[in-house]
Amino acid sequence: MKRAEKEYERYQSELDNRRMKRRKDVDEFKVVEGVIDPPTLKILYKLLNRGIIKALHGAISTGKEANVYRGIDSDDHPVAVKIYRVSTAETDFMLEYIIGDPRFKKVKRQSRALIPQWAMKEFVNLKRYHGAGIRVPRPIDIERNVLIMEFIGDVEQTLPAPLLKNVEIPSPVDTFNEIIDMIERGYTKAELVHADLSEYNILWDNGPVFIDVSQSVLLTHGNAKKYLLRDIQNITHFFTKLGVATEDPENIARQIIAEGVS
Ligand SMILES: Nc1ncnc2c1ncn2[C@@H]1O[C@H](COP(=O)(O)OP(=O)(O)O)[C@@H](O)[C@H]1O
Ligand SMILES: [Mg+2]
Repeated sequence: MKRAEKEYERYQSELDNRRMKRRKDVDEFKVVEGVIDPPTLKILYKLLNRGIIKALHGAISTGKEANVYRGIDSDDHPVAVKIYRVSTAETDFMLEYIIGDPRFKKVKRQSRALIPQWAMKEFVNLKRYHGAGIRVPRPIDIERNVLIMEFIGDVEQTLPAPLLKNVEIPSPVDTFNEIIDMIERGYTKAELVHADLSEYNILWDNGPVFIDVSQSVLLTHGNAKKYLLRDIQNITHFFTKLGVATEDPENIARQIIAEGVS
């Protein structure tokens, strides 16, 4: 056989291998086909081709604005894939948290355009929190309405971490203090207010992990102080029920605000 022919054959079999691999990978999205709308499926294939994920398994959670799935990255490690619903989402409340944010100068009103901005807001907020050393899922990638982040839980078993509200907290007083400390560092170091903090948006993985930060606002937001107090009230309310003698939320908020940005 001539050298060129040999090379051509090698090239063909390489292509076949890739095709086979692709076909196998595509099967990995079968569980979500039919559930996920075609434009989002296209985004998933894009992430697959970019080597960010290679499979998507069952849903961890199906919510009003988003579903969270277990994904597998190219190194076979689990990741969390949060897919924001584009067509049926309730978007009016989002405007309150995004309008005036200097990171999003042209806020789109149409849900098809607003949702990707909302997903991007979660991504950049996760980056800020993570960069400031506050425990949140490490953000990995974002493509329109699909956010890839660190999987929180038992990575070996692919078992997602439980919500704070569903665990028997070993030491409630310590955990209360730790969460207040995270709120404080969120304010002074990440310069963010979570704005939807409660036992429903904190995971328990040998300690508290904040999640769901798309609505989190910069300190320059007109309602930042109001949201800060609301977050603290939610947390004190939850820990009071557990028998923790909590400080007055207004006092805690005042101290954090007085400390300011460090
Ligand atoms: N990084 C993650 N690792 C493991 N589970 C997660 C992760 N992010 C979210 N979840 C799970 O998905 C649920 C919904 O996620 P969340 O960001 O709170 O979205 P929403 O409340 O808007 O539906 C969480 O309550 C949690 O159980
Ligand atoms: Mg949530």
